[in-house]
Amino acid sequence: MTPLPQATDHPFDVFRTWLQDAEKKELSYPNAFSFASVNADSQPSVRTLLLKGLDDRGFVFYTNTQSRKGDDLRANINGAMLFYWKTCQRQIRIEGVTERVSETEADSYFATRPRESQIGAWASAQSRPLGQYEDLQESVARYRAQFKDKDVIPRPPHWSGYRLIPHAVEFWVEGEFRLHRRFLYRRNGADWQMALLNP
Ligand SMILES: Cc1cc2nc3c(=O)[nH]c(=O)nc-3n(C[C@H](O)[C@H](O)[C@H](O)COP(=O)(O)O)c2cc1C
Repeated sequence: MTPLPQATDHPFDVFRTWLQDAEKKELSYPNAFSFASVNADSQPSVRTLLLKGLDDRGFVFYTNTQSRKGDDLRANINGAMLFYWKTCQRQIRIEGVTERVSETEADSYFATRPRESQIGAWASAQSRPLGQYEDLQESVARYRAQFKDKDVIPRPPHWSGYRLIPHAVEFWVEGEFRLHRRFLYRRNGADWQMALLNP
């Protein structure tokens, strides 16, 4: 396993090495994280998503923008991510603001998805009530038929990505007898400052 985070490290670099460690050790979905959003009534909600990108700006995921999380993010751009890797005994908390990825970026990622997942993105009105499961299967069948002669399925207008641009990233390493190690990086202009926290 990689050494503990240092004050001079960039938190994104630490994140990348920890994710690589998790990719070697976790049984499934090392890129899975819990994502918290807050709606217009200040009600938080949380769900599991998959991380699909990290560039020098932030952490990218894809979803239906008309979902519950999409509604939340329209009302309140703040979001938080939590990665917990049980086998690594590590946790990362990330807080920041979200913005939509560009149309080009979303198109490029959508094009890499399996055809059936692309059809699913058209067929599912994510988070909206569904009368019965057969209704969803019928919707899938309708879109399969609609796109049957098309080599390339276009990205639905309601499906895109968000980038969480963090102002705080905290790395947590399990310690003996609950004496865990915590390393909190806070953005300070163009730089990051790290402080240790009590467990
Ligand atoms: C392992 C795992 C990965 C998931 N990845 C995604 C994802 O990347 N995007 C997504 O929209 N939903 C994903 N989901 C489903 C979400 O947890 C959630 O059910 C869905 O996004 C609707 O959430 P909402 O109603 O809060 O908008 C995933 C679920 C699991 C368990």
